[in-house]
Amino acid sequence: MSANISRQTPYLFSYRHLIEFAAAEIVRGNVMKKILVTGAQGQIGSELVTTLRQQYGTTNVIASDIRAGQAEEGPFETIDVTDGKALYDIAKKHNVDTIMHLAALLSAEAEANPKLAWDLNMGGLINALEVAKDLNLQFFTPSSIGAFGPTTPKKRTPQETIMRPTTMYGVNKVAGELLCDYYYYRYGVDTRGVRYPGLISYVTPPGGGTTDYAVEIYYEAVRKQQYTTYIASGTYMDMMYMPDALHAIIKLMEADPDKLVHRNAYNISAISAAPEDFAKAIRKHIPDFELAYDVDPVRQQIAESWPDSLDSTAAAQEWGFEAEYDLDKMTADMLEKLRVKQ
Ligand code: SER
Repeated sequence: MSANISRQTPYLFSYRHLIEFAAAEIVRGNVMKKILVTGAQGQIGSELVTTLRQQYGTTNVIASDIRAGQAEEGPFETIDVTDGKALYDIAKKHNVDTIMHLAALLSAEAEANPKLAWDLNMGGLINALEVAKDLNLQFFTPSSIGAFGPTTPKKRTPQETIMRPTTMYGVNKVAGELLCDYYYYRYGVDTRGVRYPGLISYVTPPGGGTTDYAVEIYYEAVRKQQYTTYIASGTYMDMMYMPDALHAIIKLMEADPDKLVHRNAYNISAISAAPEDFAKAIRKHIPDFELAYDVDPVRQQIAESWPDSLDSTAAAQEWGFEAEYDLDKMTADMLEKLRVKQ
């Protein structure tokens, strides 16, 4: 438990007061105060920064990305996460106590550039973990359904099961889960993470992922009442609406560390759906919506290697994960928000 206590140590307290102060902070779950987010211009990062700023205060959340600029007001740093020293300097400059490391290539893009994916996904991760170790920071990074492979049980995929992914992205995710475990066991870094399903939101589009169709389908439904998907009918994957994904990060980061048995790789899921399920849900609002298929063999093969539906029991039991949005509730909200946006 050293990580979160020592960085909040008020020097004037006696040792006993210190312990009590730290214990009280942890009991209150009040351990996450100044946060550096990498990959902040990405699909998760852009919304996570907004949510964290609402919760912890604008100046307490430092957004960073390799792409310059920022979506909204607040501290922003341009960082290439493969530059470990730059990452360290920024974390130190802002005196952060938490790093949420999101910078990574998604599955289809990683398949197109495997070596780049290794360098960015693994190089960035170990740099961020080193910073967390050296500066005593709490740490979050997402794993994915992509960590599983064709030999994994597809339905109600268990928390602990066969993990032999056949994509570079999946190799990175499995290695990343293990690396986070290692930094916890070896150095006591308070590492935590979830295996995200495909994430759906109306704010920032994803890029280079296999599950991206499940976002595009909504944009095109509103724009053209028609969508051509690159994923074949009958291909099920786990999905989740962004508010549930963001809520999960905060809940996990504030969870009692003593309860976290599977700390770096919790299965979480809300929806298991194939393209035709999205079409059916959309037709409840746009009856003339048409779905066509033009299957991309690369992304189809990736999708077929992933689970149909994850079992999130461990996350529910260990830190109270629950999803608010099912397919119908998410669809109603997505379409309503996109109609206003477009
Ligand atoms: N949404 C991601 C992708 O499709 C999976 O983690 O690559």
